[in-house]
Amino acid sequence: MMTQNTGATKVRKKLYIKTWGCQMNVYDSARMADVLRLVGYDRTEEPTQADLIVLNTCHIREKASEKLFSELGRLHAVQKARAQSGVKVTLAVAGCVAQAMGEEIVRRAPYVGMVFGPQTYHRLPEMLVLAAREEGCVLDTAFPEEPKFDFLPNEQSQSGVTAFVSVQEGCDRFCSYCVVPYTRGAEYSRSLQSIVDEVKVLVEGGAREITLLGQNVNAYRDEASGAGLVEVIHKIALINGLLRIRYTTSHPLDMEDGLIEAHRDVEKLMPFLHLPVQSGSDKILDAMNRKHKAKDYLQVIDRLRKAQPALALSSDFIVGFPSESDADFEATMALVREVGYAQAFSFKYSRRAGTPAASMDQQVAEEVKEERLSRLQALLRQQQTDFNLACLGKKMAVLIENTSRMNGMMFGKTVYLQTARIKGEASMIGTEQWLDVQEARPNSLAGEKAIG
Ligand code: 5AD
Ligand code: SF4
Repeated sequence: MMTQNTGATKVRKKLYIKTWGCQMNVYDSARMADVLRLVGYDRTEEPTQADLIVLNTCHIREKASEKLFSELGRLHAVQKARAQSGVKVTLAVAGCVAQAMGEEIVRRAPYVGMVFGPQTYHRLPEMLVLAAREEGCVLDTAFPEEPKFDFLPNEQSQSGVTAFVSVQEGCDRFCSYCVVPYTRGAEYSRSLQSIVDEVKVLVEGGAREITLLGQNVNAYRDEASGAGLVEVIHKIALINGLLRIRYTTSHPLDMEDGLIEAHRDVEKLMPFLHLPVQSGSDKILDAMNRKHKAKDYLQVIDRLRKAQPALALSSDFIVGFPSESDADFEATMALVREVGYAQAFSFKYSRRAGTPAASMDQQVAEEVKEERLSRLQALLRQQQTDFNLACLGKKMAVLIENTSRMNGMMFGKTVYLQTARIKGEASMIGTEQWLDVQEARPNSLAGEKAIG
């Protein structure tokens, strides 16, 4: 049979995405890949093979722009080398640094073809056409009228045993150190129905654990019905096949009664919560514009623990915020001792241009920040180790995610997000197994499948 040559062959191109920062960025990178797949791009892990390179940046903590410009310098060399063999490579900068420093990127790195903020990923196909057509750079850092969630494909291309679903974006809280309200914009929530639909698709594709994501996730509000995060949790808990639900990141002031009660009533909601407090000193909390006192946070923890006695906690801390004295720092240490964390993240305060704290007096010296951070981290590490050691000899449910690098072992997570290795085989992937904890380390647990 003769085939007719129409002259129209479809050539798939290659996309490389490098992601910095939080889960929201990881999620956004996956969504960008979904949009770009529809217009002919397949993902590669090799930047030197790519036709389109996207750097998805994070601006939350230190050295974001230096990291970006040094990575761009390296990639410019790749771009030039490939141009010599006739391949046009488009460099794109996305994410919060793009949002905050768009014009500067265009000026300092004129070889970049596209710069766009987190709200415009659904417009990527148009931007690509513009970038191919025009000289110079396509800059899109507007906060568009149409929210991106409504325009992104509802289907995630990859669904593993655990999956993330973004339910809200942006933040209206304006903590004085934080760039998120400026780079991600005002709080915006997706519709309840679209979230439930996405979770159903993911569960049909094999997901067993869903983490609901948002910069201020417990401020979620469905515009049409007024439903909050607790309703999302109740609704998705009804989906057959879904075993575990988590949500992150929450603000203590948005922990409503219903959400606290869900920790008692919804079996699928995991007894583990990341609830950042940032500092234990009321003076510093006030300067941070957190709008709560240490005691308010402790009361929320108390109510949560009453609702779910098995609850374990995680938090974020910032040390060396402007005007933090030794006594303020000791108040943070005291709060950590009082709560007792299963794990936590801690950072030295770093100045973010444009935020109120950046221009505050009484910035803390670098050596003082270093010293406080290492003391806080030693305490948190001790608490995490103690938490894991207390699991020795217990039987714990583990959701099996994959095979481990160690022969004959599977890898998964406990309800407390501890990494666990368990003897077993690949058929266990996607199931919950009881682990007999025989080994406990600071960062992981291990053992055999519990009998009976
Ligand atoms: N300096 C240090 N840490 C910061 N964070 C946010 N902004 C800053 C900053 N300017 C931390 C907070 C937040 C976490 C995601 O990053 O602890 O909860
Ligand atoms: Fe930033 Fe979180 Fe504060 Fe919002 S609540 S401003 S995201 S630290």
